[in-house]
This record gives sequence, C-alpha cells and structure tokens, in this order.
Amino acid sequence: QIVRLEDYRPGDFLIDRVELDVRLHPTATRITAILALRPNPEGRADAPLRLDGDELKLKALAIDGRALPAGEFEASPQELVIAQPPRRPFTLTIETEIDPTSNTKLMGLYRSSGNYCTQCEAEGFRRITYFLDRPDVMAVYTTRIEAGRDEAPVLLGNGNLVESGDVDGTGRHFAVWHDPHPKPSYLFALVGGRLGKIAKPFTTMSGREVELAVYVEPGKENRADYALDALERSMRWDERVFDREYDLDVFNIVAVSDFNMGAMENKGLNIFNDKYVLASPEMATDADYANIEAIIAHEYFHNWSGNRVTCRDWFQLCLKEGLTVFRDQEFSSDERSRPVHRIAEVKTLRARQFVEDAGPLAHPVRPAQYREINNFYTATVYEKGAEIVRMLKTIIGDEDFRRGMDLYFERCDGTAATVEDFLRAFADVTGRDLSHFARWYVQSGTPRVTVRGAYDEGAKTYRLDFEQVTPPTPGQPVKEPMAIPVVLGLVARDGRPLQATGERVSRHGVFMLDKTTDSLTFEDVATPPVPSVFRGFSAPVKTSLDLSNEELLVLLRHDTDAFNRWEASQTVAMRLLVSLSKGDPILDEDMLGLSSALNSFISNDAMRDPAFAALVLTLPSEADIAQEIGRDIDPDAIHHARIEMRRRIGQACRGNLQELYTGLADTGAYSPDAASAGRRALRNVTLDLLAGADPDLGERTAREQFESASNMTDRLASLNVLMTLPGDAREHAIDTFEERYRDEPLVLDKWFTLQAAIPEDATLKRVRRLMSHPGFSISNPNRVRSLVGSFAMLNQMQFNRADGSGYDFLAEIVLRVDELNPQLAARLLTAFGTWRMMEKMRRSHAKNALLRIAGKPNLSRDVSDIAQRSLEEQ
Ligand code: ARG
Ligand code: ZN
Repeated sequence: QIVRLEDYRPGDFLIDRVELDVRLHPTATRITAILALRPNPEGRADAPLRLDGDELKLKALAIDGRALPAGEFEASPQELVIAQPPRRPFTLTIETEIDPTSNTKLMGLYRSSGNYCTQCEAEGFRRITYFLDRPDVMAVYTTRIEAGRDEAPVLLGNGNLVESGDVDGTGRHFAVWHDPHPKPSYLFALVGGRLGKIAKPFTTMSGREVELAVYVEPGKENRADYALDALERSMRWDERVFDREYDLDVFNIVAVSDFNMGAMENKGLNIFNDKYVLASPEMATDADYANIEAIIAHEYFHNWSGNRVTCRDWFQLCLKEGLTVFRDQEFSSDERSRPVHRIAEVKTLRARQFVEDAGPLAHPVRPAQYREINNFYTATVYEKGAEIVRMLKTIIGDEDFRRGMDLYFERCDGTAATVEDFLRAFADVTGRDLSHFARWYVQSGTPRVTVRGAYDEGAKTYRLDFEQVTPPTPGQPVKEPMAIPVVLGLVARDGRPLQATGERVSRHGVFMLDKTTDSLTFEDVATPPVPSVFRGFSAPVKTSLDLSNEELLVLLRHDTDAFNRWEASQTVAMRLLVSLSKGDPILDEDMLGLSSALNSFISNDAMRDPAFAALVLTLPSEADIAQEIGRDIDPDAIHHARIEMRRRIGQACRGNLQELYTGLADTGAYSPDAASAGRRALRNVTLDLLAGADPDLGERTAREQFESASNMTDRLASLNVLMTLPGDAREHAIDTFEERYRDEPLVLDKWFTLQAAIPEDATLKRVRRLMSHPGFSISNPNRVRSLVGSFAMLNQMQFNRADGSGYDFLAEIVLRVDELNPQLAARLLTAFGTWRMMEKMRRSHAKNALLRIAGKPNLSRDVSDIAQRSLEEQ
C-alpha cells in the first residue's frame, strides 16, 4: 500500500455535481449523496466504478433513481464497487449512516463540545459518503443540512446560503448552501451547533459585498475580534499585493476545540482550532496574537493558492502549502517588522525542518511516495516549500515574480495543478530555464555550503570560494548540486560602506551557486573586508564560514543586513556553547569578546528595535545546540553549558540589563501590535538573563512581575523564569496560576507546557501526575500536545533521559492515543526524529521504545509508517 507519484493516472470517472442531504443526529447521521457522474474521456473505457469509503455503512444505492440490485455492486466499509456502471453520464444516489459522536479520529464528520463539524483534508470526505476522494475530481456542491433546532441552531456549509426553514412539526430545521466554484472533496465542510457570532461587512476591490463572520462558543464572542480584524487585513493585503479578490457572498470562520491541526481552508467555511482564533490580553500572549494573524491569513490566502487553483494529487501538496506559507509570511512581514519576522521564520525552519532533513523522516518537498499522506503535512512540505518560492522570487526579482504569479493564477484557475505548472508560469514570463532550480522539489536534505574568503592586498581584490555538499538522506544516497541563490555583500571592518562589484552578481545582488564548487572575485576592494553571505537567509542551507569571532562581531555591529547581524551574534554564541557542551576549554578572550559586543549592542542599539534586540540577546536553544553538534549528543551536558553561558552573559551585562528591564516597564493598556510586543519581548529576555546571573534577584523580580503583570505575555514570561528556579516560590506560582485559570482550557494548556518543560528529574513524574488533572483529556489534541508533546519536543534533557524512561513514557502514550486518534499519535511519535544523534545509551533505549511501538499489533497506518521509517537503516 505504497502510493507513488510515478503511478499517477487520471481517474476513470468524473463527478460534475454533488447534492448532499445531511440529517444530523448525534449517533446516527444520515447522508444522501446524489452524484452526477460521467466517464472521464482520459480514463479507461471499461473500468469499474470504485468509490472510496472509510468506516462507512451503506444504506441504499441507486443509479438514475432506480435501486441497484444486490448482485450489481459490492460494498464494504472502505469501498463501493460497481463493476458495470453506465458508460454515459448518470446519477448515483448513495445513502450512508455514520456516528459523529464516536468519531475520535477527528476526520470526517465529528462532534466537538457538542457541535458538529468536519475535517476532510486529506482523505476524510470518504468517512461521510462513498466518493472519488481525490483532488483532481472537482465538482459543484449543494448541501442541505438538517438538525434539531435546539441542538444546532446554526447550520453552515460551503458557498452561499440559498434557503433555510423549519421542517414542520418535527422541531428540526434546515439550511441549503450552494458553492458555485468547482472543488475537490477535501474542501467540503459543514458545521452545526450552538455558536455565538461576530460579523462585519467587507467590500472587495471590484465592489462585491461580503459578510465576514467568526463563530465561537457562546460567551466568547469578544475574544474573536482580533481574528476578524486579521481576516479583514488579509483580504485587503491579497487584493493589494497579489490582485486576488474574494469570490463568495460570505466568508465564515468557525472555532472548534477539538482539532488535529491548526486550521482548514474549506471553501467559504474555514474551520479553526480555537487556539488560533480566541484571544484576549488577559489570556493570550503576543506569540498567540501573531499566530492567529498568520493562520487566519494563511487559510484565507488558500482561497486562491489551494482552492481556486488546487492540487492534482497529494504529491503536489507543497504547491498549495509552500506557496501559501510564503504568502502568509509576506503578509506578516508587511504587517509587522520584516527583518524580525524573517529571523523568526528561519528559527522555525531550523528547529523543525533542518531537524527533519537530518533525521530518518527526511523527504523531498515533493515526496515521490507515501504510505499515509497525513504524515506529510510536515515542516519540509510547508516551510521548506515556502523557502523555494522565496528563492524563486530572489532569483527572478520582484516584478517578474509578480508577473509569474499572475500568469499562474490566470492559467490554472479552476484546475488541479502540479509543481510543473507552477514553475512553467515563471519560466514563461522570464524566458529562463528553471529545470535545475526545480531540483529543490525532488532532492531532500539540507545542503551545506562552505565559504572561504581571500583578500589580495596588491591587486585589491577579494575572492570568495564556495563549495556545496548535501549529505545523503533515506532513499537518496547520492546528491546532485543545487541551484543556490547567495545574496551577498562586503562589510568594511570600521563599518564604512564598501563599494564592491563582483561581475557575476546579478542586478538583484544575487550570486548563483549552481555547481559543487565555484568562486567569485570582487575588484577594487580597498581594505580587507568581512563577507556577509546569505543575506536575509537567501537559501535554506547550512553555512560554514571561515570567519573569526572577531570578524563575526564586526557583522553584528556594522552589517546593513539585519538577518546577518543576528546570525553573527548567534554563530559566536553557538561556537562557545558547543565548546562548553563538549567540555572543551573556551578562551576568556572569546567569552569577553561576545559579552562586550553584547554590552555595547545593548547600550547603542537595543532600544532602536527592541524586538530585534530580544532576538540577538536570546541564546541558541538546547535543541539548536544539539543539532549543531549532530552526533553522540549528551543533552545533560548541553543543558549545563547553556545555563553556564546564560550566567556568564547575564553577569557581564548585568548593569545594562537591569537598566533595560526598568526602562521597559509596562506602561498602560495592552496592545498586541508588533512594537509593543517587541518591548515586552526584550524586557522578558532581560529578565531571563538577569535570573541566570543572580537567581535571588531573578526570583524576586519574576515574582513581582508575575503578581503585577497586566497581560498574559508578561505573566507567562515571569513564570517561565520561575520554572528554572526550584523552590516554594515556583510551586506557589504554579498553584496561583492554576487557581486563576482552571476553567480556561487554552490557558491551562500553557500551564501544562510550562511544567512539562521544567529541566529537572522530577518532571516526568509531574507530567504523569498532570495527566490525571481534571483539565487534561487524552482525547483533546490541544491538551495532549501541550502536556505530552511539549515534554517530548521542548524538554530535551528530560525526554532524552539517560535511563530511557522519557522514551518509554512517550511510547506508552503514543500507543494509547493511537487507539483514539492516529494522526495525533503519529505527530507525537515524530519526537523520536533525533534518536540516532544521541549518545549510545540513549540511542539503544530509543530504539527499543520504537521497536516496541512497531511491534504492536493493530497499529494505525499513521503510527506504523512513522515507527518503521524512524527505524530504517540510513
Ligand atoms: N490545509 C490545512 C492548512 O494548511 C491543513 C490541514 C491538514 N489536515 C490533515 N488532516 N492533514 O491550513
Ligand atoms: Zn495550508
């Protein structure tokens, strides 16, 4: 049951129209589907009709309105086969019955807090009715939804509402929704329930009147304002930047509390994990606000990149996801600070995608095969997919990029497209050959680029030598060189701008490295420069630079590229952290070099851009350090190295930090805007470093901040600092927080996460205890991720315990969750992605835990796929 890209062929039948009648009932929902089918001219003429199902019960079946005799079809829960269907257009009427209440997989139609909702991507529609459940089958849908008026006063579907009313004398009512835009089944959605609503009108660029609405649990309407505002800003932005307009009379967003992913772009009816809708200053952090803004935008942008132009098959997932992530990143950059956002994007890419690329689950942005498609909603497909689009823009320039996007949307509108269609649009508008560039979609692994510089005093030239290598990944032992755009410049040591001209640097400032080795010479370079390469992180590669710490600190001080200023600070810190972790001696002058550079950065620059300063002053995480070391990792040593660095930096910069902390004190009402968030971020980083330098001072200050905080960002930041300081103050704060928020599940999630991340031996016991907390639920994905997921992903030291008990714990939970919700279980299991990099003892414990999982009978396909790939020899 491996699906391969090379085996793709068009289906034998097409569906033009779908009429659904859904009679909602908690345990016995009835669905009547009338499908207008016809043979696909591109398919086989004598093929049987095979419709996908998943745990379905067939109740009735008819062709052109006449019941089909028992001998003429075969129905099982996962398939409906009609051996001799008509060889002309016909209608197929299918009646199925499903039980939404016992649907704990949260795929198809299910109930969340008593409300009915759906999730059909990737293959959930087949859990509602038998269907050609593949994205290249696009149909126009009309959906009638019926439910008890009391149970579900609100009934929502895709498209526009065309009719609604009572079903006389039954206490039931109905609504009919029609979506005129042909779409694949994965974009189908419906919602029924008791929901509160906020709404506002929107007029599109061409004058179309649209109602924008957000539906939430009744009583939480005032927490949805920010989401609605973000939606409006997203719509304006897509009109302004990409000329993309909305195309229905309503745009509805519904927040549900049980959801496997972040959100879903169903046509005209986006369904969201409530975590990415609900926010108030009291209960959401600045990071929550930023995520809400980004995800609202992401799902809205899918209306063009995903819905109007959809994917031919699931191998093309990056066509919509990579592009849409790129678009939401651009939106956030425009709404906030571009350099700060870029750094945040790269931090996520490195923490998630680079790690994936370096481990057993590495795969190309466009995979060539899969066993379970749900396991490919990954950082590689999403984040690296977005980097490919960004590189394309860097290479061809803003104007041609925009022209290419226009051509892509125009050509592919209403179709199910491929990565080739996407690239062809850019090749056609620029006349460029993009075939080498296209390798980014098929070759996995993170290229490593080594850069060496040489200055020729006599000739006044500066030469840069490049070399690229991509390490082998599962299934791809031999790698080809990639087409890598290097945005670069030279920086003089005294900070004066250096006019440098390299003949092979394009008019956009890009040098294309497309061979294994290459070099570049700059003429008329008056003094020995410091090179600044991969400005703005122009390609998703790892870099080795032969620069001294001192030269890197020149970049921190003088580079015009903010990304590389930050990068320089992190590289120097990383070098020291790696030495400390390995027990190598570090030179006092290196430590001093960094702390005095940071000290002068704090006094000269910090207040100019607090958000940026917060990033510069944040040390690489334990996971970052582990990744940099790459093999025989000892997480305890890394933890202690980081504590030690934090102490030394904190002590060296103490005076300046204290001044900053006081100077940035909270003044007045909370606003989630980027500038205010930046001030809070800087102040909270400062607090953390001060606590590292002086635990008593840290505890006092954190306690004060915890008690006086006027918003969740500051409250949580102080708690995070307290978590590093064992003692009564910490436990007291934990209890106070619980007391205050015990009835707010989304806030309780933060409380779970906080404790799961405590870097001490007792944490595993604490996590186990919290699993019986009344606020915890093994069937709710947000709860499981915030407690168990955070333990495995955030607590490097305790998850990777030397005695293996962290691995055993995760294995146990994965197996338990798998019986309820395979997707969630498979996600948790990816925490084992770094096991081969651990030192020997840990490696063997991890392997045993994985073997135990893989050997369990009746595993879901989701979990067995991840377990097996994690174990494969590389
Ligand atoms: N298309 C959604 C998004 O990117 C993600 C849905 C994934 N769902 C799933 N079951 N794999 O916003
Ligand atoms: Zn998406």
